[in-house]
Amino acid sequence: MARITASVYTSHVPAVGAALDLGKTGEDYWKPVFAGYDFSKQWLKEQKPDVIFLVFNDHATAFSLDMIPTFAIGTAAEFNPADEGWGPRPVPKVIGHPKLAAHIAQSVIQDDFDLTIVNKMDVDHGLTVPLSVMCGQPQAWPCPVIPFAVNVVQYPVPSGRRCFMLGRAIKKAIETYEEPLNVQIWGTGGMSHQLQGPRAGLINREWDNAFLDRLIDDPDSLSRLPHIDYVREAGSEGIELVMWLIARGAMSERPPKVLRRFYHVPASNTAVGHLILENN
Ligand code: DHB
Ligand code: FE
Repeated sequence: MARITASVYTSHVPAVGAALDLGKTGEDYWKPVFAGYDFSKQWLKEQKPDVIFLVFNDHATAFSLDMIPTFAIGTAAEFNPADEGWGPRPVPKVIGHPKLAAHIAQSVIQDDFDLTIVNKMDVDHGLTVPLSVMCGQPQAWPCPVIPFAVNVVQYPVPSGRRCFMLGRAIKKAIETYEEPLNVQIWGTGGMSHQLQGPRAGLINREWDNAFLDRLIDDPDSLSRLPHIDYVREAGSEGIELVMWLIARGAMSERPPKVLRRFYHVPASNTAVGHLILENN
């Protein structure tokens, strides 16, 4: 049977991707951001996952505001980096895992979570930047990736509780897949940031760190936090953090091993947060 061995959490700041693509990682501003992932890159190489189930959000790139699925699973054989206005990022295309994705869709939908099936989709910085910070600049990404898109851009967004319970359904789905695959689940986006309006530039270190504490130790109660608390405390784009609860919900109910915890301010307009939790 397939099993989830670990979960990875990371911000997806587009400027971090641009810094890498433009060779700026050695600049004083960016050095500490990339150094925060040194351990993680080495760890990922050693882990050799067979598949990464990558929870991310599209930023009105693949799904325009004409059509907004709440939860969408990528079932295609491959996904190209999206053109977000400056041409596609110079990163490898993403190879999917249609067979596992179809199995997860079947299991999760029968478990009462309505997913949109996506057979064709370009993936924006929400997906490619997490791969870049964890993998650097390889010729090809280290393994197939199942993109799982969550609407956190256009209200109404799903609650943290629904995300957490969905994670549990994804865990069950993966654990009933016959091949003995080593699967990682990644939750991405966040941390506190607001890109618009009078509070643009908001960052809340205290709240972010309390979120990390609770995500590790008490995700069940954290999942009950109403979305308005995210918006008030972590800014309008801080709501991206509900995606971390999907990954956390897919972990074992036993306390996880914290392999890496990193927090840095600022990177572009946001706080960068990163965790690796391993199943015990
Ligand atoms: C920024 C952060 C995001 O999460 C995003 O999607 C776009 C921009 C920023 O910090 O500039
Ligand atoms: Fe974003």
